[in-house]
Amino acid sequence: MTEADLWKLEANHCSWEDGIRSTEAPKIFQSCEGCLLHDAEGIPFLDLQMASATASFGYRNKRLNRTLKDQLDRLPQLASHYLHSEKIEVAARIAQMCEKIFRKKGRVHFNVGGAVAVEDAIKLVRNYTHKNGGFAFMGGYHGRTLGATAITASYRYRQRYGHFGDRAHFVPYPYCFRCFYGLKREDCGLYCLKQFEKLFDTEYYSFWDSKAGECEFGALYMEPVQGTGGYVIPPKEYFVGLKKILEERKILLVDDEVQMGFFRTGKFWAIQHLDIVPDIVVFGQALTNGLNPLSGVWATEDLINPKTFPPGSTHSTYAGNPQGTAVALEVLKLLDEQNYEKKVTEKGRYFLAQLKELQKKYPKIMGDVDGLGLALRIELCQQDGTTPNPELTERIFLEGMKGDLKKNGTNYGLVLKVGGYYKNAFSLSPSFEITTEQIDLAVEFFDQLMERCLK
Ligand SMILES: Cc1ncc(COP(=O)(O)O)c(C=O)c1O
Repeated sequence: MTEADLWKLEANHCSWEDGIRSTEAPKIFQSCEGCLLHDAEGIPFLDLQMASATASFGYRNKRLNRTLKDQLDRLPQLASHYLHSEKIEVAARIAQMCEKIFRKKGRVHFNVGGAVAVEDAIKLVRNYTHKNGGFAFMGGYHGRTLGATAITASYRYRQRYGHFGDRAHFVPYPYCFRCFYGLKREDCGLYCLKQFEKLFDTEYYSFWDSKAGECEFGALYMEPVQGTGGYVIPPKEYFVGLKKILEERKILLVDDEVQMGFFRTGKFWAIQHLDIVPDIVVFGQALTNGLNPLSGVWATEDLINPKTFPPGSTHSTYAGNPQGTAVALEVLKLLDEQNYEKKVTEKGRYFLAQLKELQKKYPKIMGDVDGLGLALRIELCQQDGTTPNPELTERIFLEGMKGDLKKNGTNYGLVLKVGGYYKNAFSLSPSFEITTEQIDLAVEFFDQLMERCLK
């Protein structure tokens, strides 16, 4: 079947709501390997988003694929009335890792898909605190189920369907390049944090009962680096201060690591960069290298022990499924065997340095270039260095998808992900296995695209 035939069928028979449609006729890919996607003509596309930051260990990773194939031949499925060793071992490894990092005992609860795991976190909070509402961040993204959209900033996701439960109160994320209050980090004195604390000054600001010393909300939901928001890296001091404010008011902290967990930022959890301890961690995506939608939550023992959070009310048929947990166990073994902290940090540092070098050529237009591990961002602006430039961002993205970038006589494409509050940021989540040569090639291609689109 030709691509034109497939597009025609898609136009008639597929819902467009189950994908992200950034072009009229999205590219159809045929195969993948390592950091590359291949189209029908065999043109390689260097991928800097790796299946939405899920395939951290490279496409068709031999070891992980073999694990999945072996599991298929041994115990591919099992009703969740029963147990299998992989589920227990994955839970134990994650819980032990959290105990080591956070010095708190806890347990792991599985589900499928990031948004549903976010819903489990909401249930844990409501069950424990008996409070429905929560704080969340502007620019935050936690998924598109009805519950998750209530704590996700964009009205667009709620506009057609509404949401279940209380819509969060959204506060500005410390996005210093575009400070909500128009301040500069050098001399802001963490004004945004002070504004947050001010909400508790009096009951007349609506959340706080000063007589009872009690907040109407049970938790604050955060991303340690905003993912869909455009890989916004916050200053640590903000979150250290925030955690103190929350703790003093008995408000739980839910850390959504769905996109940043498992070393994307160079640490097992991205929140480790912020030196704070959450009450709940939500994870998914890279845990199975994107081979299975396994997701889950870790929560402290008092929130999740079987007496407080008894079996039955959040179960899903595929939660903790054998295929997902088998791959997850192999991923966790891989993380144990190799020093990913060093690997990701070094590669990220090199990639960021090359991007900063390129920024010198386009100092205003590449308005902000930043990164933490292999979570990197390029924010494109107008000539004033600040006004967002979504038009240029889209043009570059589309040019990259044409597959006609040249290197040593070979045609290539460059797969970029557009994100950010103004759709003017590229969020780069390359494979942890990307080579120095491929990083250089990516920067060279990005330069070619800039030159082409600025003409
Ligand atoms: C931080 C974060 N939370 C939750 C989700 C939702 O995950 P899913 O798309 O698997 O439902 C995502 C998805 O990108 C995410 O980045």
